[in-house]
Amino acid sequence: MVVDMTTASFFLLALLHILTGIDGQHHHNNANMPAPSFGSTMENITVINGRDASFTCVVLNIGPHRVAWIKADDKGILAMHDRVLTNNARLSVMHSDLHTWTLHIRDVHRSDRGVYMCQINSDPMLSQTASLEVVVPPDILNEEGGGEVLIPEGGMARLSCKAKGFPQPRVTWRREDGQDIVIRSGALQKQKVPIFEGEVLTFHKITRSEMGAYLCIASNNVPPSVSRRIVVNVHFYPIIQVHNQLVGGPLGSNITLDCMVEASPKPINYWARESGEIIIPNDKYRMEELDVNTYTTRLRLHLKLSSNADEGGYKCCSKNSIGDSEGTITVYATKRVEEEKSLGRWSDHDEEGGAEEPDSVDDSDNTSLEVTTTHFTLGRVTPPAGPSSRRANNNNIQSPTQNKMSIIRSSGSIAQTAVRPQSYYLVAIISFFSLIVTLL
Ligand SMILES: *[C@@H]1O[C@H](CO)[C@@H](O)[C@H](O)[C@H]1NC(C)=O
Ligand SMILES: *[C@@H]1O[C@H](CO)[C@@H](O)[C@H](O)[C@H]1NC(C)=O
Ligand SMILES: *[C@@H]1O[C@H](CO)[C@@H](O)[C@H](O)[C@H]1NC(C)=O
Repeated sequence: MVVDMTTASFFLLALLHILTGIDGQHHHNNANMPAPSFGSTMENITVINGRDASFTCVVLNIGPHRVAWIKADDKGILAMHDRVLTNNARLSVMHSDLHTWTLHIRDVHRSDRGVYMCQINSDPMLSQTASLEVVVPPDILNEEGGGEVLIPEGGMARLSCKAKGFPQPRVTWRREDGQDIVIRSGALQKQKVPIFEGEVLTFHKITRSEMGAYLCIASNNVPPSVSRRIVVNVHFYPIIQVHNQLVGGPLGSNITLDCMVEASPKPINYWARESGEIIIPNDKYRMEELDVNTYTTRLRLHLKLSSNADEGGYKCCSKNSIGDSEGTITVYATKRVEEEKSLGRWSDHDEEGGAEEPDSVDDSDNTSLEVTTTHFTLGRVTPPAGPSSRRANNNNIQSPTQNKMSIIRSSGSIAQTAVRPQSYYLVAIISFFSLIVTLL
């Protein structure tokens, strides 16, 4: 029953007069009785959708009067005295002790929000109001469906997380692994933020490093906050990096070949000989795959150099649904460690896997050693790309260049070095000599 407020007031006053008219005693004493008043201010209420809410109205000296509850917005009379006058089953009224009137709303709906009035049908009429606010916890609308996105590298992706609730929830994004989110506004402008705010997170020209799980979190300070997890998969064909392209060791030793593979989706990796023969793990070969991150894997092949047949090219191969790739490592063997020691000299090698070229110098000849040294040193005046990694790998057989240099210096004078009748050494030595002369 919804009645206009003015009508309601008239109705209440009329009712009052009828009631007081019937109850003659009260009517007579009415003038001597203290006027009704409110004992406290009615409190505003904020309640979470679905919970219960109660307004309490404390009236002193109610006398013969009655308390009515009115929804001020639509002026509907909700209840009078101890009777509920609407057909809303979630409403109830209570009159406890002498002064307290309570309007109770069970399972509050958003439509219940508004201003509520506690009215006394005295003359003049007395009323006080308080408001009911109904807040709604955030909810993420499930319009996008699946929690996984596949994008080719360099492509564009939009992650969307629409949320509803009251107040309107704030949507923020962060990466599950705690890394920053890269926001590209222009062609070159980019910004790294730990948290991005907005319903839509856009990736322009996505890169592999942006691959991972993202969480969108909706919150409006009404518990509980909700989140959704979206996995971003960036697809690209495998890329192989080989740091040491030349690996050697003495016969009988174990060596390790190393490849770094970046690929997504996850590739199938294997090792092969240069001939294409796929290597299978056994007593001679052992493979390892170590995940560096979600798209990077370190491949290792441990191999025993048992004979010269083990020399040559080895390929690490990687294949996924986008494409395939391979890296090549050249393996060379030197003489067994025991032989090396007994020979008492260093092995020497050419730049490009010259391992197969044994040193032609006569071992017993002390002077040839120095020639070899000179040759080596001159040959290394301009180091080739990546000799350091190569040396690092062969440190069990090769002395670093510095050592050879110091041997030359400690020998006092290069003039003592016997030079082989090879014009290129002569030219080199002579030019070195003339340089020293010039300096002197
Ligand atoms: C209740 O909220 C209204 C605004 O909706 C405000 O004017 C009033 O002062 C509040 N009353 C109390 C008791 O906080
Ligand atoms: C080489 O590795 C194998 C196992 O892969 C091991 O049994 C052997 O002892 C190792 N040899 C050397 C010289 O380290
Ligand atoms: C080589 O040099 C060592 C000392 O460095 C010396 O003892 C040895 O006799 C030399 N050998 C020859 C063949 O000259």
